[in-house]
Amino acid sequence: MHKHPTAIGGLLSATLLLCPPALAQDTDPATGLVIAEGWQVVSANCTVCHSAKLVTQNSGSRNHWQGLIRWMQDTQGLWAFTPEMETTILDYLTAHYGPKEGARRPPLAPSLLPPNPYKQGDTQPGAS
Ligand code: HEC
Repeated sequence: MHKHPTAIGGLLSATLLLCPPALAQDTDPATGLVIAEGWQVVSANCTVCHSAKLVTQNSGSRNHWQGLIRWMQDTQGLWAFTPEMETTILDYLTAHYGPKEGARRPPLAPSLLPPNPYKQGDTQPGAS
């Protein structure tokens, strides 16, 4: 396949390069971590055993991250952090890799649900 560079194509890529999406955050090219307070601590401590991708693809509450850190400390040989360091790491992770908004929707109100076909009688689906 050969390429057919066109003026339009060149213009488009120039435009894309010059106008990154408004929501883009600065990320470290080497790790992909969002560059913000504490990122170097995370980069230094959380990319030693596995790719930073494991970190950046994960997300969750402070509790979730703390639980993961405890699990890695208990079972995977992750070293202990000083409380200050752990706070820095958890602050960073919770702020930039927190629970995904919009990933789950709140449950529908019962009045918005269709009638439950199994409500009447004792017939269980699959039971025979
Ligand atoms: C001493 C080694 C080590 C260090 C350092 C380490 N981890 Fe891990 N981590 C592991 C191992 C081993 C796994 C499991 C790897 C796998 O599933 O492939 C893991 C898995 C993970 C996962 C994936 C968990 C899942 O549910 O799939 C995340 C997220 C993670 N680590 C985050 C971190 C963060 C954040 C730090 C820094 C605070 C960190 N890791 C530092 C060893 C380490």
